[in-house]
Amino acid sequence: MKKIILDQKNKIKVKTRRTFAIISHPDSGKTTITEKFLLIGNVIHEAGFIKPKRLKKHTRSDWMDIEKKRGISINTSVMQFSYLKHHINLLDTPGHEDFSEDTYRVLTAVDSCLIVIDGSKSVESRTKKLMKVARMKEIPIITFINKMDRDTHDFLTILDDIEKKLKIFCAPINLPLGCGKSFKGTYNIYNNTISLYKKNSLKKKIFKKFTYLFLKKYFQKNEISKFFEEIDLVKSGYNIFNKKKFLRGEVTPVFFGSALNNFGIQEVLKKIISWAPYPKNRNSLTRKVCAFEKFFSGFVFKIQANMNLRHHDKIVFIRIVSGKYQIGMRFFHVRTKTTKVIKHAMNFIAGERFFIKKAYPGDIIGIHSTQDIKIGDTFTEGELINFIEIPKFTPEFFKIIYLKNSFQHKKLLRGLKQLSEEGVVNFFKPFINSYLIVGVIGKLQFDVILERLKNEYHIFAKYKKTNVSLIRWISSANKNLLEKFKKENNSFLAYDSDNEIIFFTTNVFKLNLIQDKYKDICFSEIKKF
Ligand code: G4P
Repeated sequence: MKKIILDQKNKIKVKTRRTFAIISHPDSGKTTITEKFLLIGNVIHEAGFIKPKRLKKHTRSDWMDIEKKRGISINTSVMQFSYLKHHINLLDTPGHEDFSEDTYRVLTAVDSCLIVIDGSKSVESRTKKLMKVARMKEIPIITFINKMDRDTHDFLTILDDIEKKLKIFCAPINLPLGCGKSFKGTYNIYNNTISLYKKNSLKKKIFKKFTYLFLKKYFQKNEISKFFEEIDLVKSGYNIFNKKKFLRGEVTPVFFGSALNNFGIQEVLKKIISWAPYPKNRNSLTRKVCAFEKFFSGFVFKIQANMNLRHHDKIVFIRIVSGKYQIGMRFFHVRTKTTKVIKHAMNFIAGERFFIKKAYPGDIIGIHSTQDIKIGDTFTEGELINFIEIPKFTPEFFKIIYLKNSFQHKKLLRGLKQLSEEGVVNFFKPFINSYLIVGVIGKLQFDVILERLKNEYHIFAKYKKTNVSLIRWISSANKNLLEKFKKENNSFLAYDSDNEIIFFTTNVFKLNLIQDKYKDICFSEIKKF
């Protein structure tokens, strides 16, 4: 093991870094907020840059097209900018709900999250799912309730919804004064001021003291007394913001505003800087790795394969955990125990790629590779450590994949293996049958797999139905029991792409029965890479 040496210069760089992702149900305003952040950070100078309109509303067939033009999504997947002397890394999460596994993985590479909720819809299904993962990882979460310029739910209902459905306590920082046509601004509970709503108010903000006299200008008597009542309710019924609880992921500060009108966005960005954590220690299988350490370490959380179809190359995204990246340095790839010289690492700023000379913990670097690199792999300067950051989630939909031309079986296995390393698909080889089952989290992925097999590997595959509807990775400390289980259930067992054993079945009832029968066997929904 290398001696652990801390680096004071690194410490300064680390403390000014904030790495976060915006997550939301589609259409809540994630792209709009991303654009406003980049405008505030002076990275772009006009809206419409991140997601051109023609690419926004993707029908199924458009999506295939977008997949083909993956150059676009790669350029927008990691954005970096400076604001108030801080270095911000903003990680994009795929907008389409069918690609949620990608989003889950992005969450392993960030230190905090901004959750965006459409005020007119309140908490939606996708947000619930994403939040579950964020909670699992105890990521600090800031919440922004968007679209207050539209008719929205009552803010108390939204706060209630967040606490009940997302299972996190709310600490409202500001409250909306009206909504839709009568939206007048937000009231800051902590400094007793009103920020007056103005459309597209990026620059100058107008703050007023929150007094009865002031409110009289805009509201009826009964509306004013309702505000006072509701404010009292919020002050007595909800948490006061507490940074420690926020950092433990127990409480989320809540802001209201309108991204489209640039109202409330700058305030949120400032709070991300002052409240969200800088890159922290991360667990490896052998020890905790501190961000201030001198030697480089990082893990792969995303792979974008076949950027150039002729070379079967890929861009590997590494989240730096410790040390620093310098141009031309040698990376030790822990799983294959090989060394690789990194001549060029890239970062991505809203549509453009740049070669970088240095990068620090919290930063994401992209490296070109044609080698055997998988999601979850660790890179160091020689130390044998493995980060245990990336979980694999059980797929939710299954099909049997077969070939139009059976000579291509080996090629199919290779194609599926590469797509699985990129995290696009899971595939399973049953113990006693020769067919292959593919499993995905979103149904649309089935189409993407066939399309990519065709375009990138010249494999023409088809699907057949299967009644498999759930799988679990199995393990047990009791080896004899595991062998007995394997013998007795071999027609329900398969190998995954890493040759680990999974149990598959057709419904939860059958799973429960088998779990009751083999109590010392662990049936896991999540596999750690
Ligand atoms: P997403 O990335 O989360 O999917 O959402 P996106 O930012 O694309 O926003 C979805 C729609 O909501 C867009 O309208 C956007 O303009 C609108 N929107 C975002 N923030 C606000 C807001 O604060 N107020 C109002 N009224 N609308 C907001 P669209 O019509 O779907 O697209 P576009 O033609 O306006 O670009």
